[in-house]
Amino acid sequence: MRRSQFLAAFFLLAFGALTPPMTATAQLRPDYYAGVCPNLEGIVRDAVRQSVAHSPLAAPATLRLFFHDCAVRGCDASVMLINPDGDDEWRSLDGMTLKPEGFNTVMGAKAAVDSDPRCRNRVSCADILALAARDAVFLSGGPDYQVELGRYDGRASTGGSVMIPHGTFDLDQLNAFFSGLGLSQTDMIALSGGHTIGAASCGFFGYRMGADAGMDPAFAEQLRGRCPGGAAGFAFLDAATPLRFDNEYYRNLRAGKGLLGSDQVLYADPRSRGAVDRYADDEGAFFADFAAAMARLGRVGVRTAADGEIRRDCRFPN
Ligand code: HEM
Repeated sequence: MRRSQFLAAFFLLAFGALTPPMTATAQLRPDYYAGVCPNLEGIVRDAVRQSVAHSPLAAPATLRLFFHDCAVRGCDASVMLINPDGDDEWRSLDGMTLKPEGFNTVMGAKAAVDSDPRCRNRVSCADILALAARDAVFLSGGPDYQVELGRYDGRASTGGSVMIPHGTFDLDQLNAFFSGLGLSQTDMIALSGGHTIGAASCGFFGYRMGADAGMDPAFAEQLRGRCPGGAAGFAFLDAATPLRFDNEYYRNLRAGKGLLGSDQVLYADPRSRGAVDRYADDEGAFFADFAAAMARLGRVGVRTAADGEIRRDCRFPN
């Protein structure tokens, strides 16, 4: 071995020895359950397929549930916990619009997983939620990406810890929120493409109709018809293809047909417009960036055996 090679090898070894202890995310890997629950992915996908066949609300509700879980206390299924005193994430102001169909989809998948004796109580609710969100995307026509697994479930949930972005946010506020999760502006724009499925209540966009210069007038008119008498109705986040996971969301933004202010601002602000144009023109680029951003979202605040557990019932700590 030449001296330079020796030095290179030495530094590599020394660096390896000095790297900090395994971080929480280091435990995540796609085949985490291969030994204990080899058919996990098939079981969850079949269960999600049943939920989606049962209700068109299931896929969007499940995807949004995953985002809310990861954005608050990390991806630890804390969003599913029910506290006897009523102080928990899902009953907070920002949590109570999460639809029951999302929770039911995960509960159904958990029951299916536990019906296999090998898997029973060995797969975390946080991982089942991460898989169910991917399957909701895939079964709606979106990408079939790999999901990293190995999260443990949290034991705590309080309404006060819920901080999620609002539809009134501008680009700087959106970026500040997502950078707090370790995500980039590109991640944020790709993840916002989750709004290619599902709906929002009039209370979230009613203030924009007619008042927002960026909104297409015919679209504003259409929305006024969706919200007769104020906040009672709803509109689809992607009016073109509301149940299909595709890149129409970005095409809508270009046409001034973004439903939420936080959607339309991605095109209105020149700093993010380029990415919107790219995804509007190239669905493959959107799918690839969405999958990568979901993986990064799925690494937020991951718990280990030291500070988490495998919940027997996703609604209650063990
Ligand atoms: C960028 C910041 C975001 C804001 C301001 C935002 C805001 C909202 C709002 C106000 C609604 C309507 C809720 C209702 O009427 O009940 C909604 C729905 C939804 N959001 Fe987001 N969201 C954001 C990011 C995300 C992300 C990252 C995802 C997932 C990748 C996501 C997925 C969804 C889905 C699928 C729905 C439809 C839910 C349903 O139909 O049940 N959102 N969002």
